[in-house]
Order: sequence, then C-alpha cells, then structure tokens
Amino acid sequence: MRIRKLYILFLLSVFFVCIAMSCGPGPRHGTRPSERILRPLLRQQYVPHLSEGTVGASGPSEGRIYRNTPKYRKLERNYNPDILFREDEEDGSARIMTKRCKDKVDLLSTLVRNRWAGVSLQVISAWDGDGLHPRGSLHYEGRAVDIKTSDDDTTKYGLLARLAVEAGFDWVFYESKFHVHASVRADGADAVKYGGCFDGTGTAMNESGALISMNNLQIGDKVLAVDRWSGLPVFSEVILFMDKQPTIETEYVEIRTHQQTIRLTSNHLIFVTKSNNSNTFSTKRRAVYASDIIVGDFVYLTLPISGRFEITPSRVEMVATVTRSGVYAPLTAHGTIVVDATVASCYGFINSETLAHAALYPVRAFPSLRTAKRSSGIHWYAKTLADMARNLFPTYWIKLN
Ligand SMILES: *[C@@H]1O[C@H](CO)[C@@H](O)[C@H](O)[C@H]1NC(C)=O
Ligand SMILES: *[C@@H]1O[C@H](CO)[C@@H](O)[C@H](O)[C@H]1NC(C)=O
Repeated sequence: MRIRKLYILFLLSVFFVCIAMSCGPGPRHGTRPSERILRPLLRQQYVPHLSEGTVGASGPSEGRIYRNTPKYRKLERNYNPDILFREDEEDGSARIMTKRCKDKVDLLSTLVRNRWAGVSLQVISAWDGDGLHPRGSLHYEGRAVDIKTSDDDTTKYGLLARLAVEAGFDWVFYESKFHVHASVRADGADAVKYGGCFDGTGTAMNESGALISMNNLQIGDKVLAVDRWSGLPVFSEVILFMDKQPTIETEYVEIRTHQQTIRLTSNHLIFVTKSNNSNTFSTKRRAVYASDIIVGDFVYLTLPISGRFEITPSRVEMVATVTRSGVYAPLTAHGTIVVDATVASCYGFINSETLAHAALYPVRAFPSLRTAKRSSGIHWYAKTLADMARNLFPTYWIKLN
C-alpha cells in the first residue's frame, strides 16, 4: 500500500516536473543571471510594454497613503546597509516602502553589487508624503522607487533598469537621464491571486451544530460539506488552509438568496444550477466563479429539515460587491464546504472545479504534504500549483482576482 502511494506520488511529480520544464517561465530557467547578456533599456523605454497602472504591470493606484494612518503604519522601513538612501528628506521617506517593494529593492541591491565592483544601489525617492508627484502616482503608496547608482554614472542607468526588471519589479521605466523609476503591485493585490477565499466572518458548521467563523476555524475541525458524488451532506475535516491572511482587506462578491448571504472573492468557485428542482446536486450542478453569478441563478443551500440537512436550490435575489477583511481558503477532505449555509467549492483561481480537485489530490491523500512553514499566508502547494497553472493554461482559464 505504502509503495503504491509512493509510486503515485512519484508519477505525479514526474508529470508536474515535465510540464513545468516544457512550458515553464522560459528565461529564468537554467541560465545563471551572471552568464546572460543583459540588454540595457533605452531612455523612455518601459518594461513590460504596458502602462504602469494596468493589471499586467503594477496595477491601479489604490489611493494615497497619508502619514500616521493604519496603512502608513503597515509600510516598511528599509535599513539595508548596502543601499544608499537619499537623506535630504528629513523623515527618511526614501526608506519607506511596501513589503513587496522592499523585497525587490533588496534583491536589486545585490544584483547591482554583483554587476559593478564598489558600486551600490541608490534610492532617491520612495514613499511620498509631501505631494511632490502627480496625482495617482504609486509613490504615494510606497509602491514605487526612483533609483540610480551610487557613483552617479548615468551611462549605467540603462543596465540598472534591466537589472530592476530582473529583480522582479512589476514595471520599470527608464524615465529620465538622471534616474530609473520602478514599481510593484500592491501587497494585498498579490495576496488573493492564488485562489478564491472567504472573509473572516463567513461561518462553517461543526458536528455539534455550532457556527464557527473563518477566523476561528482550525485545521482538524470537521465542518459541514457536501459529497461531490452522492450529493449528500457530510462532515469533512479541514486539512489545510491554502490561504490565510487575517489582516488583508479585499473585495468580495456578496450573493444573497432570501434565506442566506455568502461572500466569496470573485475568483472563488460556487455551485449553481439553472432550476429549482431538488436533489440535483450530484447531477445538474456546475461550478462557476462567484463573479459570474447573476440574479435568477440557483445556488445550493443546506437547510435543516427534521434533524438532518437537505440540499436545496435557492434563487439568487441580489449580487453586490463589498469590502471585508481577512482572506481564508480552507481545504476540506471533500473539496467542498458549506459557508453561511451555502454550498461552495474549496477552490478558486482556475475555471475547472474538477481539475482543481484533481490537482490537490496529493495533499488530500498524503498528510506529509500538508505541512506549512507558517501558520498564515499562502500554502506552498497551492502557490506552486497556481504558479504552474499561470504558465500552462490560457488566460481565460485563470482568474486572478
Ligand atoms: C463545535 O464548536 C463548539 C464551539 O466552538 C465547541 O464547543 C464544540 O465542542 C464543537 N464540536 C465538535 C464536535 O467539535
Ligand atoms: C420553483 O420554480 C417553479 C417554476 O419556476 C415555481 O413555480 C416554484 O414556486 C419554484 N419553487 C421554489 C421553492 O422556488
């Protein structure tokens, strides 16, 4: 038995590694950065060739961050001793940036020092608290930096811009003769890219009938779910959280039937049917993105009827968009979960419930794969699959957010 499991695991790994190698993110594969010829950017060139605020680049501005607000306190201070920060801004604002921006700046600093002996990265501007940039600038959110090299040698800036692309900035612009501008996606935007989620107030039901909110749900809890083959209610163990980030605020689709309201991220899959005939879950259900639900669709509710649960279609009366905090993506052994009495899939991101369920087979079958290094954040397995899917599937199969 054990041998057979190992064998299946081996086959799956070979399968994933093969597809990852053949279709993976080409340029980063196999070549060491120092051995490649890096093409400097030309003045006024930007990479990717999109405007900064589009989703394929750094994404839209999320609003200015003012000093001493909660969002301001979430920004990080970069005290990397290898980087030169312009200090003439008395509050040290050249050091203030988002987590993602800081990660990229630190990596770029290493690339710069490896490229030119004795030269380091210089940050001339990061978060802007003084209103010096045009409206909508990502500097107001700590998501952009203006950079040059410590020796002020302008002939290096084209290559510096290329190194910034290599470091993973989401948008790099060789803006002027005197500096390069580089920016990143919002930290929150990145967070919900790996799967659909519920907010912190969504509730699941345990075997004693107690409602447990997502922010109290634990691995090992058995909660109400639905068996995908028989269409019958079951209690299913929460085996891991594909995503768990209590502090992030994001947009949710709120779906209301006349009895219940459920909130999911737009890329989360939920079961629907077109008619209100009962007992259709095992035969007539479809899984669609929450954002594709329209008034008049029927979602499935679990209603207590004389001591047991019955799965009944219920007409969607209203669909709205709301902002809530916390993102939670619990995975149950059955791959479904009943949240706020509404039957949802545990999956999101990829437009095939069946495929998502199959792809997570290894973690359902092999408990050793479930361990996460941290108790919150995105689970490594879910992230790996999502990254793979992004490279393998056409974009219309994938919904980021
Ligand atoms: C269900 O949750 C309640 C409240 O958290 C708890 O007291 C009870 O023991 C739980 N039941 C089971 C079977 O875990
Ligand atoms: C089910 O649909 C039929 C026809 O559309 C309607 O007459 C009936 O009232 C509906 N029942 C429920 C419970 O929604």
